[in-house]
Amino acid sequence: MFLSRLIYIFTIFIVEIVVAKNGSSQHFPENFLFGVSSSAYQIEGGWDSDGKGPSIWDEFTHLHPEKIVDRQNGDVGANSYEYYLDDVEAVKSLNMNFYRFSISWTRILPTGDLTQVNEKGIEYYNKIINKLIEYKIEPMVTMYHFDLPAHLQLLGGFANSAIVQYFEEYANLLFNRFGDRVKYWITINEAAEFCVKGYGGKIHAPGINAHGKGEYLCVHNALKSHAVAYHLYKREYYNQYKGQVGIALDSSFFYSDSNDTVVVNREMQFTLGWIAHPIFSSDGDYPAVMIDRIANHSKAEGRLVSRLPTFSNHWKRTIQGTSDFFGLNYYTSRYIRESLEPIGENPSVARDRGNERFTKPEWIKGASDWLYSVPKGLGDLLRWIKAEYNNPEVIITENGWSDDDRLEDDSRVTYFHDHLEQVLDVILNNGCNVKAFSVWSLVDNFEWSQGYTEKFGMFFVNMSSPRKERIPKKSAYFMEELIKKRSIPGI
Ligand code: GAL
Repeated sequence: MFLSRLIYIFTIFIVEIVVAKNGSSQHFPENFLFGVSSSAYQIEGGWDSDGKGPSIWDEFTHLHPEKIVDRQNGDVGANSYEYYLDDVEAVKSLNMNFYRFSISWTRILPTGDLTQVNEKGIEYYNKIINKLIEYKIEPMVTMYHFDLPAHLQLLGGFANSAIVQYFEEYANLLFNRFGDRVKYWITINEAAEFCVKGYGGKIHAPGINAHGKGEYLCVHNALKSHAVAYHLYKREYYNQYKGQVGIALDSSFFYSDSNDTVVVNREMQFTLGWIAHPIFSSDGDYPAVMIDRIANHSKAEGRLVSRLPTFSNHWKRTIQGTSDFFGLNYYTSRYIRESLEPIGENPSVARDRGNERFTKPEWIKGASDWLYSVPKGLGDLLRWIKAEYNNPEVIITENGWSDDDRLEDDSRVTYFHDHLEQVLDVILNNGCNVKAFSVWSLVDNFEWSQGYTEKFGMFFVNMSSPRKERIPKKSAYFMEELIKKRSIPGI
């Protein structure tokens, strides 16, 4: 009797130690929201169904299949155009508070402008939104997630300031038709990402490759587009609908072995600050270190003006303060050191930054070349944002992990466990104003230039079956339990 009592007490003791080490007895705040994210081109398929016009990703993958590692495209993919109900059911099965999805601009405006409004496209998103509302899942809508109307690209896309007006008209249509039910709007997803890879580089659509110039023009017009959409909502819709409008920015955190704070600050400003400083800082405009360095480099190249465009005072004021929350996409981090030789292409944002990036051998790597698990980077980044931008309300709009094809996705479970631990830590111990966390991604999907070779979903999709069945992976059960308990389960 005594012995069995002793064994029982010992077992409880061990269990408690394990929970303390692995799980967490601390809870997410009551109003903290959990969600899951996706984007139109990556999951919808139906690329020319019911009057949809072509986007730059349709054209890029059709004309240049060699630019996608498995030569695949988003023509059909997970076919959410037909099976969106499966997606909504999947979100519901996890008890998520919100679903972040994006609207395909050309499904609604086939040529990108108001020449023609495609009611079938509107109907498609109405069906998704209404089902979400029926299930008490908040729709969070990204207005632009990389898939520009091909027709607007003919005019230069984000390299032409005319995009600002087209974006405003598109935004107006979305607010008008969906604003009664959508209370969370994200204007633009990861401007730095698509501008660097698609305008500065050639690996993303539209593949302009105007490095050192294209990415700066593109971000400039993306910031203006975002700002006009924000003001439009506040002016015309806010009083009636009371929603929030924000933007989603991607960033790593950067470390220096030699604690070189100047170099770390420069890298942070050239990545996150590039987009965040004009919107969230108290002085507005691009970070001073970017303005100075690019001006100096441009001068040395014999140019009369900087490759970094300038904002007039009017635009500085128009852009400043235009986000009701700080949307953050975090995946990984890097160490950096000042490069002794010119780095990257001439000219390019990489050369303007002037730092080498590297990883640590102990960091665990995902299926994507660039993706190493560095949970502490998320905590450090959130603390940096708090200090730099006066503790804005942060919505983590993406965080995710790639693997090869497996239902027992233990590495993804570990990744979420470790990253959510950091989120909880900064909320409880650093007073960071983090309000929500969204997983990238709901279902396995088209991973841009990597096609279908890297899996980010919590749900496997049977791509070889026409019915594209969704099957939950271990990470789906992990998130379901976490949301139910509102604390991090042990692993
Ligand atoms: C983000 C992007 C997503 C997804 C993810 C994983 O940059 O917003 O569309 O692809 O990365 O690479």
